[in-house]
Amino acid sequence: MKYNLSEINEVIRNRRSVYPKQFSDRKVHREMIENMLENARWAPTHGLTQPWFFKVFMGDGLQKLAEFHSETYKKITPSESFLVKKYDKLQSNALQSSVVIAICMKRQEIEKIPEIEEIEAVACAVQNMHLTATAFGLGAYWGSGGLTYSEEMKTFLGLKKKDKCLGLFYIGYPDIEWPKGQRKPIEYFTEWVTE
Ligand SMILES: Cc1cc2nc3c(=O)[nH]c(=O)nc-3n(C[C@H](O)[C@H](O)[C@H](O)COP(=O)(O)O)c2cc1C
Repeated sequence: MKYNLSEINEVIRNRRSVYPKQFSDRKVHREMIENMLENARWAPTHGLTQPWFFKVFMGDGLQKLAEFHSETYKKITPSESFLVKKYDKLQSNALQSSVVIAICMKRQEIEKIPEIEEIEAVACAVQNMHLTATAFGLGAYWGSGGLTYSEEMKTFLGLKKKDKCLGLFYIGYPDIEWPKGQRKPIEYFTEWVTE
């Protein structure tokens, strides 16, 4: 065995989504975030395009994100479908986090690699970040709600037309017992072809 597989298994299987309302006030050090980003960049990427782009909000940046997300939601939502609960959530999600990373895909100029593969590569990078966060004992969750896929979000993040925001990755120290996961056994999703 080249690596300690039992520890790797444990990190992978114990990675959980931990939500901002479950975070404590304790601040996450920038070095931890840098380590997560460092591991993100080692994700597989077809043609080595490395299509990921991460915008990190921390400190006063969180207020900026919270304000943008909730106020823009208010501005673009017709009054009959506007939900105060959603407005509050878009604000509190950022403010209850220690760090929020906007997950983005930067489209290659020549568009040689299919877009879906660029998105897949970014998702692999996010998994690397999430596993690293788990190893640090940090809570994190990939949220794709709110204005994630809107033009307003794209502009806010400084993305170009063909780039995509894929979500917000909320990070903080958990203030709860580590959540238990649940998955179907491999028989449910595997077909073996042996002859
Ligand atoms: C691409 C993607 C988008 C997600 N968006 C949301 C979301 O908008 N809201 C949410 O509550 N969870 C979201 N999640 C987290 C999932 O709900 C979570 O991974 C799932 O419930 C399994 O729990 P676990 O991560 O603890 O194993 C998202 C996960 C992925 C991979």
